Amino acid sequence: MILSAHSPVASPLLEIRNASVFRGRTSALENLHLTIDHGQHTVILGPNGAGKTTLLKLLARELYPVAEPDLLLRLFGQVQWDIWTLRSRLGIVSQDLQTSYPGKVDGLEVVLSGLRSTIGTYAYQQFSQAEQDQALRILTSVAGADLADKPFQSLSSGQQRRLLLARALVHDPEVLLLDEPTSGLDLTACFQYLTTVRELMHQGKTIILVTHHIHEIPPEIHRVVLLREGKIVADGPKLEVLTEKTLTNLFAVPLRLLESGGFFQVVPA
Ligand SMILES: Nc1ncnc2c1ncn2[C@@H]1O[C@H](COP(=O)(O)OP(=O)(O)O)[C@@H](O)[C@H]1O
Ligand SMILES: [Mg+2]
Repeated sequence: MILSAHSPVASPLLEIRNASVFRGRTSALENLHLTIDHGQHTVILGPNGAGKTTLLKLLARELYPVAEPDLLLRLFGQVQWDIWTLRSRLGIVSQDLQTSYPGKVDGLEVVLSGLRSTIGTYAYQQFSQAEQDQALRILTSVAGADLADKPFQSLSSGQQRRLLLARALVHDPEVLLLDEPTSGLDLTACFQYLTTVRELMHQGKTIILVTHHIHEIPPEIHRVVLLREGKIVADGPKLEVLTEKTLTNLFAVPLRLLESGGFFQVVPA
């Protein structure tokens, strides 16, 4: 075997080329091109219906693109995936998941279910002692050990969201895909959640956030991609892309942009 003296150029975290996705008869993403590098925290910002959730489902192979000759969908440098292996490398927290999660499942089972990428756990599934210890450790650090035996339905929205974050982290994924992570949370839960997400970035997780909430963009995210009607309309450094002009165009409403401590917020102009 000949070993190169040069280390190979690391492939991007994800590469999407010319991907179009339909939801029923609706074109949800159109000829999308997007490359994100390892460690490049990115927010994909767009109004309702822009195709943000569709994009995350495309990455998780819950939806498939239309076959085009120059289509490319590569994650971690790899095109072909066994979907269970792929999903174990992506930590996903979505609103869909929270609303569809069965209420009787207890906290530890929610976290364990992440190990098999299932919603809830099933009697046929066996979890080793090591897996149970791992799930309990993550549950304790992200959501608090007292939630281990509590039914999901008995918990507050913020507690449920933290459990789903623990579920997403149970595989120790390199990347976390967050879909409107703080929507529906009260201020305390929202700020706690954002603090946890920032800690995870400092621990080396790459965050890809899709949202229409400007206030939930952590200061550590420096790349902003604007998505409207299934197309990328801007992509670049936050300070260039996140402006009153671009956001007024994106959301089709006059607005003012405020900044404080690296966080942004908008108010009517
Ligand atoms: N299950 C579905 N069936 C048909 N159309 C859908 C479905 N889910 C989403 N869509 C449509 O696809 C487009 C993109 O939706 P989505 O990715 O959920 O946008 P976002 O997350 O940015 O709000 C929208 O026009 C939406 O109405
Ligand atoms: Mg959505």
